[in-house]
Amino acid sequence: MTHVFLVGAGPGDPELLTLKAARLLRAASVVLYDSLADPRIIAMAGPAARLIDVGKRCGKHAASQAQICRLLVEEARGGHNVVRLKGGDPMVFGRASEEMDALRAHGITFEVVPGITAATAAAAALNLSLTRRGVARSLHFLTGHGAQGGLPAHDFVSLTKSGGTLVVYMGGETLPGLAAHFIEAGMPPDMPAILIENASLADQRSVPATIATLPRLHAAQAAAGPVLILIGEALRDANEIAALESQAVSEMERTMADASCG
Ligand SMILES: C[S@@+](CC[C@H](N)C(=O)[O-])C[C@H]1O[C@@H](n2cnc3c(N)ncnc32)[C@H](O)[C@@H]1O
Repeated sequence: MTHVFLVGAGPGDPELLTLKAARLLRAASVVLYDSLADPRIIAMAGPAARLIDVGKRCGKHAASQAQICRLLVEEARGGHNVVRLKGGDPMVFGRASEEMDALRAHGITFEVVPGITAATAAAAALNLSLTRRGVARSLHFLTGHGAQGGLPAHDFVSLTKSGGTLVVYMGGETLPGLAAHFIEAGMPPDMPAILIENASLADQRSVPATIATLPRLHAAQAAAGPVLILIGEALRDANEIAALESQAVSEMERTMADASCG
């Protein structure tokens, strides 16, 4: 009998949760959740469910991966109906493989329930097709954070030559190095790049830029939530529209400020 469900919580907006995830949460006796899981989603668990925060954010580990794996195994062995709730999709930069390995090693069966990953949530939020026909030939999900910290040793030349759309997870801190490597690898400095923070949530914020200007713009407006970086020709229209919109908002704010001073 399946005792553990690795469940994708999606990007944050509770309405983007799958029906299956919501049903499993309601039926769970134990929920182990990450820091990116939205409180409104955790609150969908039944009143008797035990809620365990194993969240980690920006390298600050509330529980180590080994502890999480141990907990999962213990709770499943205790006969509990366990939901392991993970931000976005469990199979995209979610360390699902370690958890599945631990469960397999103990003969515990599990099921994975997909969730909407940050990349597709960001694409929807920006009205942006990541695979725009005739423009982007491929789509690449990259991590901006190496296993030992810092920037991973990507093949920046191949990625640049791919002509695809690049989506960087966990790249907020390493963005300056990332941009410099792409430009060194031959990416035109005016390649459109957008940073989106808290995609799908009410406090979502996007920074339309180019690969050359994005690091400076990001540094000037410190982000508190998770950020995703999108790079590629497919962004050109979305980028221009976002720039026009943010210009319109700034002008409106300036007008309102002038009116309240006067
Ligand atoms: C450990 S990875 C988990 C990814 C997750 N499994 C997924 O499929 O979206 C965490 C990174 O996902 C990205 N992320 C997750 N939720 C996000 C959101 N709502 N808005 C922007 N980026 C998000 C950020 O790059 C963050 O640093």
